[in-house]
Amino acid sequence: MSNLIPILPAVAAFLHRDQQLLIGGKWVSARSGETFPTLNPATGKALTQVAKGDRIDVDLAVQSARAAFPTWAALMPAQRERLLYRFAELMEIHKEELAQIETLDNGKPFNVAFNVEVNVAIGQMRYYAGWPTKLTGETYAVSSPGFHVYTRREPLGVCGAITPWNYSLVMAVQKIGPALAAGNTLVLKPAEQTPLTAIRLAELALEAGIPEGVFNVVTGFGETAGAALTHHPDVDKVAFTGSTEVGKAIVQASTGNLKHVSLELGGKSPLIIMDDADISAASEAALWAIFSNSGQNCVAGSRLFVQSDIYDEVQSVLAEKARGLKVGPGLDRTSHLGPLISQQQLERVIGYVEAGVKGGYQLVSGGQRLEGDLSDGFFMQPTIFSNVTDEAMIATDEIFGPVLSILRFETEEEVLLRANNSRYGLAAGVWTNNLSRAHRMAAQLRAGVVWINTYDWFDPAVPFGGIGESGFGRELGHQVMDMYTELKSVWVKL
Ligand code: NAI
Ligand code: MG
Repeated sequence: MSNLIPILPAVAAFLHRDQQLLIGGKWVSARSGETFPTLNPATGKALTQVAKGDRIDVDLAVQSARAAFPTWAALMPAQRERLLYRFAELMEIHKEELAQIETLDNGKPFNVAFNVEVNVAIGQMRYYAGWPTKLTGETYAVSSPGFHVYTRREPLGVCGAITPWNYSLVMAVQKIGPALAAGNTLVLKPAEQTPLTAIRLAELALEAGIPEGVFNVVTGFGETAGAALTHHPDVDKVAFTGSTEVGKAIVQASTGNLKHVSLELGGKSPLIIMDDADISAASEAALWAIFSNSGQNCVAGSRLFVQSDIYDEVQSVLAEKARGLKVGPGLDRTSHLGPLISQQQLERVIGYVEAGVKGGYQLVSGGQRLEGDLSDGFFMQPTIFSNVTDEAMIATDEIFGPVLSILRFETEEEVLLRANNSRYGLAAGVWTNNLSRAHRMAAQLRAGVVWINTYDWFDPAVPFGGIGESGFGRELGHQVMDMYTELKSVWVKL
């Protein structure tokens, strides 16, 4: 039996269609008529052509989102809720299709796309679907006689969402869900490398009965379509996940009309293994902390700090595990790791590996692009450097690939200082069986999320986001509803 998963007829049909923009409930070509190919990173070949939206298309999409806003915002909360639940239900019905499209467009193993990612996306959509009926204001005890004072939570208006290519489906849902639940309308600009799941999601949203103009999709490039959205004077908020560099450009673009901005940016997250930890469980967690999604993960545990006494053991266990991982096409059921997203990303990662070798750090596994059968795709071996020092480029920069730096430390105080010495502050992990130490370290780590004796867990109910140059604002949890609503105070003299 072949290990290759057969493409569903529905997916084959989807790939044969012209991939257009969704503006005001209609599928349309870019005004320029231009298209661009989206590639399968496992083969380097085009999957299909996609409309290349630009400023004018973004403007039309914003106009239709604006036109749809009053009606959507005025719907009874239970009506919005019902439509969003229906949307989540359709995602569930088309789950296998969504997972295949994600695997083809991004490269990741189908097993992961199907069993993890699509489930996470559906779970999030259900979580947000429930919010319209739960948004509340407050009343206030003011110190003046004869007043009734209360707050109302109101939608912001038109939101723009700009998403990356590493988890395109989840990142899209993470923004569509709260935006629509709160009564906003939305224009989504998915990453140019992975536009397909956003398009399929938009088809499902229409099928679910979400009114035209409420959810618009403009595919295209960052510097054109993305930038137009962030500069647009009639966009009230931009939610962005991607690089720190672009995050900074978005903050600058927002000053025109002082639009709200929430940013989930890069990281160089420390994972710390103390010598009192369960070494076998910690090593397995450290392996997946860096290598899941081939390291193209904002919370990748890319700096592994291991206490001196157990350093050699952890390093050799990890190197052996890494050599045992199978890198291959996402459609192959036996692949643990898929390709990187693009030739450009592969070159960037190889550049860092070369810098690591040149710096004299010890390469204990991987380091090469995969050749032979896989040479047309962007495949890279899981790579580990040992005895890395804090100032090494491979220890400071977000590589966004399957490259781990292992660093040695002696004491808790020392490792906290070194772990916190980063411009980023997205995630951190600690492995220890000492309860007091676990909580002490969790309090002192400079990160938006700390995982103790686990790594990379998410739940729709738990807020997520960074500090420092990892961005600001929170997604998930009830806190995200604050990011998509405005609070109005109402004073009534009785
Ligand atoms: P990127 O930040 O350029 O792309 C992310 C999204 O932003 C895409 O939709 C892109 O079209 C859009 N974009 C790009 N330039 C824009 C602009 N000037 N205005 C508005 N939108 C714009 O990331 P890229 O180039 O794909 O990857 C480069 C590096 O960024 C990666 O190697 C990684 O280190 C980091 N990155 C981090 C992510 C995270 O989740 N933290 C996700 C993606 C990339
Ligand atoms: Mg870019």
